[in-house]
Amino acid sequence: MKKLIVANWKMNPQTHGEAERLASAVSKLALKFKGVETVLCLPFVWLADLSQKYADKIEFGSQDVFWENPSAGGGAFTGEISPAMLKNSKVKYAIIGHSERRRHLGETDEMINKKVRAALKNGLRAILCVGETFQEHKKGATQFALRRQLRKDLEGISKFRDRLAVAYEPVWAIGTGVPETPQNAEAAAMFIRSEISKLMPRRVAGGVRIIYGGSVNSRNIGGYLAMPSISGALVGGASLDAKDFGKILKIANNV
Ligand code: PGA
Repeated sequence: MKKLIVANWKMNPQTHGEAERLASAVSKLALKFKGVETVLCLPFVWLADLSQKYADKIEFGSQDVFWENPSAGGGAFTGEISPAMLKNSKVKYAIIGHSERRRHLGETDEMINKKVRAALKNGLRAILCVGETFQEHKKGATQFALRRQLRKDLEGISKFRDRLAVAYEPVWAIGTGVPETPQNAEAAAMFIRSEISKLMPRRVAGGVRIIYGGSVNSRNIGGYLAMPSISGALVGGASLDAKDFGKILKIANNV
């Protein structure tokens, strides 16, 4: 199966011109490295335009999605974006439950569960982010944190195996330049697989892809992709530089 490499641009860049230059450069690379499923997750304001312009070259994703998919005239949710709006803009994926939203914007597991359900039900592919905080990591409570999140975030989801991915993202490794080791990330990925096998039929759980995120770059990506339970990566900072991101795609293409 192709490796899944997801670029999370977060709240970058600040102009449409820069966003288009980056999307255009990366989409050329994606055409070259066809053995990789490359997904660009852009801020909404650039996403709608660029996903429609470049959808034949590369996949696009949002960094969030709302849980309501209103019928005509029912969209009384100021500021939110529905699954249908994304689908209708050629967006295929949605990152859901990123730790920056959990920590800074008060996103709860209940909200995340509603978003994952709505995304999957409405034909999007969901990339659910889970991971322990630094305190949990230090206390040896990583598995406890993962179990708590997975049970709540995936409650009631028993199908859509090909459309669900889980990103293991230790909170302390995000944007810090201090990644988790490939061996520990593999152990967490194996634990995630065993937990989701308890939450949904084994056949369904087996089709869920598990990827790693947290300070991934072109120098360390190879280590994660060599792990049997890790099917790809969620890349933040290093995805904003087409050259560096291109190196990541090249390595993923050759695995
Ligand atoms: P990072 O971000 O690669 O900059 O650590 C990853 C993420 O937040 O998804």
